Amino acid sequence: MLEYSTRLNGEIYKSFVSEIIKKHNIESIVETGTYDGMGSSQLLASIGLPFDTMECHGMNFIAAKVNLEKFKNTRVHHAYSLKLNEMLEFIKQDDWTNNPDEMIELGVKFDHENPRWYYTHELNDVVSKPPQENLLMNLITNPERQLVFLDSSGGVGLLEFQKVRELPKEILKEKLIMLDDINHIKHYRSLQWMKENCEIEYSEDGRLAVAFIV
Ligand SMILES: C[S@@+](CC[C@H](N)C(=O)[O-])C[C@H]1O[C@@H](n2cnc3c(N)ncnc32)[C@H](O)[C@@H]1O
Repeated sequence: MLEYSTRLNGEIYKSFVSEIIKKHNIESIVETGTYDGMGSSQLLASIGLPFDTMECHGMNFIAAKVNLEKFKNTRVHHAYSLKLNEMLEFIKQDDWTNNPDEMIELGVKFDHENPRWYYTHELNDVVSKPPQENLLMNLITNPERQLVFLDSSGGVGLLEFQKVRELPKEILKEKLIMLDDINHIKHYRSLQWMKENCEIEYSEDGRLAVAFIV
């Protein structure tokens, strides 16, 4: 959580998300990256729709279970968003995790001076191995109208975005994608793609970006 900005649980974000949900007739919410459940997950749980959130780190998962216990609409999962092997391979081959200096000049933020090392550890060093993998795809491969908030790791934000984009068109058109940390390696490239291909709606302060990505 080194380079991440302030917790995403203030009133301006809640009213933005509530309006977006109403406007687009969203039926349920899925989030990758719960951390301790006190930031975005708290906000998304409080909306009241069925809400699934997943966290790979064992200690964070336990904290989040406790912190979100009062929300009966919410399921906290100890899980990897995607397949672990695919995520590790992606980090290994991603030039951006190997050339941070060039990207820092562009204004892209990283969590560590050696991003490749850091993001590999973030996935491997999880105290207890999550019993599930690929849960993001399992939870969104359906025709339901869902808000999908991608907020896991800087190392795999782009891979999550790409995997979502690979959904069959008739399913993808029902998914409203939300990104935070848009100047961070996590979503910088996804946002560039969205800017060229989608109609994006931003929160008042420009921090959250939301769009259908068909
Ligand atoms: C940016 S934090 C999440 C912040 C949280 N949404 C909030 O607003 O407070 C990212 C979290 O995702 C977890 N994480 C990283 N990669 C993951 C993955 N592939 N699947 C599930 N959780 C992951 C990390 O352990 C970390 O707790």
